[in-house]
Amino acid sequence: MGKRWSCKATGENLLAQAKEKVTALNERGVEPHLAVVLVGEDPASKVYVSNKIRTCESLGIKSTFHKLEADTDTDSLLSVVDELNGDNAVHGILVQLPLPKQVDESRIIAAINPDKDVDGFHPVNVGRLSLGEPGLFPCTPMGVIALLRDSGHGLSGKHAVVIGRSNIVGKPMAQLLLKENCTVSIIHSRTQNPADLCRQADIVVAAVGRPGLVDAAWLKPGALVVDVGINEITDSEQARKLIPSESKKMKSFREKGRVLYGDVNYFSCLETAELVTPVPGGIGRLTIAHLMVNCVVAAELQNP
Ligand code: GUN
Repeated sequence: MGKRWSCKATGENLLAQAKEKVTALNERGVEPHLAVVLVGEDPASKVYVSNKIRTCESLGIKSTFHKLEADTDTDSLLSVVDELNGDNAVHGILVQLPLPKQVDESRIIAAINPDKDVDGFHPVNVGRLSLGEPGLFPCTPMGVIALLRDSGHGLSGKHAVVIGRSNIVGKPMAQLLLKENCTVSIIHSRTQNPADLCRQADIVVAAVGRPGLVDAAWLKPGALVVDVGINEITDSEQARKLIPSESKKMKSFREKGRVLYGDVNYFSCLETAELVTPVPGGIGRLTIAHLMVNCVVAAELQNP
């Protein structure tokens, strides 16, 4: 029987690292400053953005919030980004995704100064990661690496399977695991026999957006399982399949008619895995904690 993998200690470590760097920057007269840009009214994005701003405040990182109308076009957003690029007091720029469909997302990302790109999505930072050069790298995969390192299980030579190939998580995750000397496989929608491949993994990182996709039959006994998926289940048939009837999670589903669920069938995987991160209450906090690290790294890059 495996264990719930708490991400709390790693989150606290990352925040403590960021805080230490804030203090050192302040001593040099630099106040790290993150500009957060939100376009439109997406409720989930609003929650994410307010959590990011709140965490900045708790560490003494200045944040400014730039809220734009839902009908903002690419050119107007480009001018906001240009202005923030040109403002020497701003060290980090975060444009919350997804953007409304009329906005050309890749043009926006490419317009951000790579040294202010605290999300690590700019093609220059993607290239730096792939070349093994220093840079700003995506927060969720960086948080996962910190968690794996803190676990004390060692990464070098391990077979890591990443499920999902998004630009935000899957691809950078695979690159970072490779940098840690893992043997890396990526499972995606066209992979043949995904469960057979996954069963060879020492480390599984699921980031695909399919609730409960990974169950015990996908795992080698003792695997370390990181669940990056955040899905909302509203279908009671699906809830019944994935959630034990006596659990707190099922109680919450019955009360609210919806529940957050990861890409991992948590209750099934606990039987076979060594450690499984929960959803919610798992990797999410590491994404924000690493964003804080990236903000101070960006401030350092601009104040060598
Ligand atoms: N939307 C979902 N995840 C992210 C993220 O890590 N950064 C930004 N900017 N938007 C997101």
